[in-house]
Amino acid sequence: MEETIKKSARKNPVESQILVIFGSNGDLSRRKLLPAVFQLYLDNLLSENFAIVGTGSLEKDEVANRIDVASALLEFAKSRTEEFPDKMQDFLQHVYYQKVNNQAEEDFGVLKAYIDNLSAKLAIPKNIIYYFSIPPFLYEVVAAHLIKHGLNTETDGWKRIIVEKPFGYSYDTAIDLDTKLRSGFNEDQIYRIDHYLGKETVQNIMVTRFSNGFFEPIWNRKYVDRIEITASEKIGVGNRGGYYDSSGAMRDMIQNHLLQVLAVVAMEPPSIFESESIRNESVKVLQSLRPIKSTEVAENVVRGQYIETYVDDQVQKGYRQEKDVAPNSRTETFVAMRVFIDNWRWNDIPFYIRTGKQLPARVTEVVIHLKPAPHQLFKQRCVAQSTNMIILRIHPDAGVAVDFGMKIPGASYKVQNVNMAFHYSDLAQNKISEAYERLLLDCMIGDSTLYARADAVKASWKFVDPIIQAWKNNPDIPLYFYECNTWGPKEANQLFGRSDLKWRPPFKKFKDE
Ligand code: BG6
Repeated sequence: MEETIKKSARKNPVESQILVIFGSNGDLSRRKLLPAVFQLYLDNLLSENFAIVGTGSLEKDEVANRIDVASALLEFAKSRTEEFPDKMQDFLQHVYYQKVNNQAEEDFGVLKAYIDNLSAKLAIPKNIIYYFSIPPFLYEVVAAHLIKHGLNTETDGWKRIIVEKPFGYSYDTAIDLDTKLRSGFNEDQIYRIDHYLGKETVQNIMVTRFSNGFFEPIWNRKYVDRIEITASEKIGVGNRGGYYDSSGAMRDMIQNHLLQVLAVVAMEPPSIFESESIRNESVKVLQSLRPIKSTEVAENVVRGQYIETYVDDQVQKGYRQEKDVAPNSRTETFVAMRVFIDNWRWNDIPFYIRTGKQLPARVTEVVIHLKPAPHQLFKQRCVAQSTNMIILRIHPDAGVAVDFGMKIPGASYKVQNVNMAFHYSDLAQNKISEAYERLLLDCMIGDSTLYARADAVKASWKFVDPIIQAWKNNPDIPLYFYECNTWGPKEANQLFGRSDLKWRPPFKKFKDE
């Protein structure tokens, strides 16, 4: 029954197809992609006839590859493999491998022959997704090789590419990459993945706003005082220092994930619920971001870097001590910023965005702070100041909560803040899918709604680029150091410009609040 519902709810059927994963032996593929496809298989969401072709520089035969894929599933989809061991064995029969050195053009001729053979042998039309799970500098190289060998042509089936973030390193490099991809693929063949858009709870922001009569009327500058968007992480950069040191939090989290979340929170209602109209509305938000000039960076953006700290008598590495990080690195691991959207709905309402590593908790949430009631009738009697907030919790304990003041029972009129919360975990019949499951399935059916369009990527680079440039060119803009397990540099609170305001400390569970 559940399966029938899932299948009929989809706009397009999943046609027979081949998923080619470039970099299939890598971390992303093992941790996220293979488990996601396996889950889609368990949910009967794939077509009966499908193949996954892994590629990489390792020389191995099909049997060795299946053993590798099985070990990835056993590690990263443990409970599912334990529950469905037979299904895992069946799934592995759909898994293939071809050695490809991404830099060697001739290997793509070999790949083409391999795909031709497989498609004929398994009677799968050449509907192909190429997943670029490879270092970003290889995106244009692999695309060029695919084009050279005609692996992009759609005469014998559709072809789509999924490109991981980062899409470019700056505004100019993003445009350059786009031009190169577009030399052989149309916009509707290019799927720029931003896994935040695949999160069920991010999509729920649209539903919360646009399907309820009581949120949308107050979702504007008349009733909203300010909006906070926080994505904090407990972990440091781990073994990703090499990548991270030339990226930093602005490129790693803000340019893509958090600006996309901001766009969903701030966009106008689309006239119809279709890919292009939704993406038209979200890009308008990104294009309306008020530019931050180089002279304004210090007062609107606070950057920080974690330092060596003793936490519970254990030494926690500082960023500069992490593997593959320059010992004098000035890369930011924390960013807090104040952003304005110059449009009718949001003019002059500040959006505060914050992200960082080695903070006390892993929390992603959006907090809509509403303006206070016009006349504070009960001010003298409040135990805590009555504040009105709508909290959209993306992770953990996903859900929505509303905070407001209530009378404490008794003869007096003492007011205290309480909250009403909805937890996704209460919807026992619905498990929340992993972002990669949803996004892969969408690409398989040709739905790009939750993928970033070229103009959105460009607009967000256009906004963050001058900030990154100012940091690079002006050594007087401070890089603040913060201890691990703290909420970043205290200077981040100065962005509010009012001594009575500071970042809302995120709580682990609404239930605990
Ligand atoms: C990735 C970043 O895109 O998102 C990582 O490269 C970050 O640095 C991760 O840790 C956070 O994603 P999530 O889903 O765990 O919030």
